[in-house]
Amino acid sequence: MTTVEKMNSIKNHRVVVTQHGGPEVLQIVEEELPEPGAGEVRVKVLAAGVSAYDLMFRRSGMLPGTPKVPYTLGEDIVGVVDELGEGVSNLEIGQMVAGATWAIGFGGGYTEYICLPISELVVVPAGIDPAEAVCIVVNYLTAYMAMHQTANVRSGESILVQGAAGGTGTALLELGKLAGLEMYGTASKHNHELVSSFGATPIDYRTEDVVKRIRSLTGNGVDVVFDPIGGARQLWLSYRALHKDGRLVWFGVAATKKGGLKVIPFTLLTVFLLKLIPDGKQTPLAPDLSEDNAWYRETLSELLDLLVAKKIRPVVAERIPLVEAARAHEVLERGGYAGKVVLVTGA
Ligand SMILES: NC(=O)c1ccc[n+]([C@@H]2O[C@H](COP(=O)([O-])OP(=O)(O)OC[C@H]3O[C@@H](n4cnc5c(N)ncnc54)[C@H](OP(=O)(O)O)[C@@H]3O)[C@@H](O)[C@H]2O)c1
Repeated sequence: MTTVEKMNSIKNHRVVVTQHGGPEVLQIVEEELPEPGAGEVRVKVLAAGVSAYDLMFRRSGMLPGTPKVPYTLGEDIVGVVDELGEGVSNLEIGQMVAGATWAIGFGGGYTEYICLPISELVVVPAGIDPAEAVCIVVNYLTAYMAMHQTANVRSGESILVQGAAGGTGTALLELGKLAGLEMYGTASKHNHELVSSFGATPIDYRTEDVVKRIRSLTGNGVDVVFDPIGGARQLWLSYRALHKDGRLVWFGVAATKKGGLKVIPFTLLTVFLLKLIPDGKQTPLAPDLSEDNAWYRETLSELLDLLVAKKIRPVVAERIPLVEAARAHEVLERGGYAGKVVLVTGA
């Protein structure tokens, strides 16, 4: 068989949301390989991230921006360049790349092959584990943005990371350690050893009074709280853990896992009300990562360099074959994992 014939016989396998519902609505479709357009490359995906957002969109078609079924979830991928589109000269076939799928619209990452504009891709240095690299794209960029752009932390400041054992939580702890911060992190008891391994003091949010514990540890509260959980009660708790003039950076609604979509309006209303309290505390939202492509590319490259230098080591909760995407969603729904769940292909 010639190389062209061989390529023609290869099919793409893609995970689609067939209707809104439980993990079982994720099904595999077989199709022709996508062809890269001008300024794009085709990437053979090695690792794709699974996130709490994916779960929200799979369950409900009510969220703004949800495409019509069938569609594909997944906003971060790492893979190997497989074909160059017209006009592409700065990437080569065989190079490993990492990137987000925002530029092509909604999701798209749960697939064996994907075409992406080169503006969204950054070269991954040789020798890097694709599953670790894919954790960098959304989780570490989000953590970096929240920590260094939104909160603008200074060495020696104290932080409380809510959901500290999660994908963004572990990213915040690793970056916080590098930034010389005094760190506290909420997690279930079984994740406390992990939280301590980053140099943070773990607090069991299930059994302890978090605000009381923070006050006993710090005196008058922390400088910054990072909250990816959301919901009225949670944000009020995070707010009270701050000292006067502290910053509450919120960037997620992981509480929808248990509380459903109604958590979202309550989160927005709570932040609105907290902003009205004239006590010097601030409640900024970490901005959208996809807004500034130059920042995205530069910071993603810097974070990948930290990975090469072994200054960071993302926690991969589990590597699950792409074709078992439904099982990956079950793992997220069940909870009890630490770090990021990653889909891997057989490549
Ligand atoms: N804005 C952005 O750009 C952006 C980017 C990435 C993520 N996010 C959002 O951020 C949120 C978190 O994402 P993730 O990937 O880090 O989720 P994740 O990996 O599922 O982690 C969430 C963690 O939250 C913990 N948790 C649950 N309820 C808690 C509570 N009441 N107090 C403290 N901890 C609690 C769980 O810890 P235990 O298992 O220890 O109980 C779990 O480890 C999601 O809503 C996601 O969509 C936003």
